[in-house]
Amino acid sequence: IVQFIGVKRDVSVEVQIQEQMRHAQKMEAIGTLAGGVAHDFNNILAAIVGYTELVKAQVQDTRLRTNLEQVLVAGRRARDLVRQILTFSRQVEGERRPMQVQTIVREVLKLLRASLPATIEIHERVDLQCPTVQADPTQIHQLTMNLCTNAYQAMPDGGVLEVSLRQIEANAELREKYPHLQPGRHVLLSVADTGIGMDATLIDKIFDPFFTTREKGGGTGLGLATVHGIVTALGGVIGVESTPGVGSRFDIYLPALDTAQTAPQQRQPRTPRGNGERVLWIDDEKAILQFGKELLERLGYHVTIANGSLEGLELFRATPDAFDVVITDQTMPKMTGTQLARAIKQLRPKVPIVLSSGYSETLTDDEIRDSGIITMIEKPFTLNDMARAVRAALENRPELMKERDLPTID
Ligand SMILES: Nc1ncnc2c1ncn2[C@@H]1O[C@H](COP(=O)(O)OP(=O)(O)OP(=O)(O)O)[C@@H](O)[C@H]1O
Ligand SMILES: [Mg+2]
Repeated sequence: IVQFIGVKRDVSVEVQIQEQMRHAQKMEAIGTLAGGVAHDFNNILAAIVGYTELVKAQVQDTRLRTNLEQVLVAGRRARDLVRQILTFSRQVEGERRPMQVQTIVREVLKLLRASLPATIEIHERVDLQCPTVQADPTQIHQLTMNLCTNAYQAMPDGGVLEVSLRQIEANAELREKYPHLQPGRHVLLSVADTGIGMDATLIDKIFDPFFTTREKGGGTGLGLATVHGIVTALGGVIGVESTPGVGSRFDIYLPALDTAQTAPQQRQPRTPRGNGERVLWIDDEKAILQFGKELLERLGYHVTIANGSLEGLELFRATPDAFDVVITDQTMPKMTGTQLARAIKQLRPKVPIVLSSGYSETLTDDEIRDSGIITMIEKPFTLNDMARAVRAALENRPELMKERDLPTID
């Protein structure tokens, strides 16, 4: 042997990173899958709730009405659950605006004081001077509620629930602890309990969707997955500290507005509004029509609804110049949306058309081009989706639909 070179290296860190990546990918896949199912399910629920409301308005019998009310209560509960799933899989952006976390936190605490047993002592330490954050108030409410509910459930024999909110600067020391933390000012929400606590193996799993230690029927395991989804989408981070038998603390760092302004999440597109433009909306689902009409009228459009393709075509044929834009569903009995679009184009070639389709329906580019459709939108859409689709169609700028800033994923 003339020469010998020895190479030795510690690979344990790489193995750990690989393991983390594999886990993150698995969670992402579960999220996507659940999100897809939730989308379809949302469609079905809209019909169930919508039709039940309709029938309830038509019957007089009080017993029947009470039963229908039960259907509605269950339907709404299902809708909340679907909303949680869509939130944790980050398929809803929420309506973000500058807001004060302190207002929401105090609201939640008021609610808890009224509903928690006297064995739970509530300590509130909220700095009312905290800077604003750019977030959806409903999601912040959901987040605070999920954390406080967990804290309460960890104290079956009573204890202290402490909720504090203060401002904090993400300095070098803190950023060493949390590498994903952005530099700058943050709002720190801490929820602490003196409950059963968790060991390290448990902490590893708590943010996984559908992970729960509660008895069957006791929990969905979506609480912390939702919290994680919300915080990550806002560019924040979560810290957990816990000792079995002593208690737990969850720390939520949210970038303050002056910090977040430089962050990519800030590039949230605004919801474009209408200016009295006349819309003809065609769908064979009454619930969707009513919901859609309400949405667009709130945005400043004038909306005429038609139940099904034949009624839609008839309305359009009677007064082709009375509409500035047509929205049509794709899957309808007798005549599909693309067929209808072609018929409408023959009556007035220049009218812009928006096609809405279900999650799994696919159309070829040729089909779309031949029927003169300008924008496509997937059901169930958010207010923002529909607003942009209508704007894009009216201005004949389909590229407006593509300008979509997705929240960054760490
Ligand atoms: N403050 C806490 N103290 C002790 N354990 C906790 C605490 N918060 C969460 N956990 C553990 O983490 C698990 C997951 O919590 P998560 O909120 O995601 O779901 P869940 O509470 O079980 O169900 P859901 O929130 O849907 O009702 C819980 O089952 C519990 O074991
Ligand atoms: Mg929970």
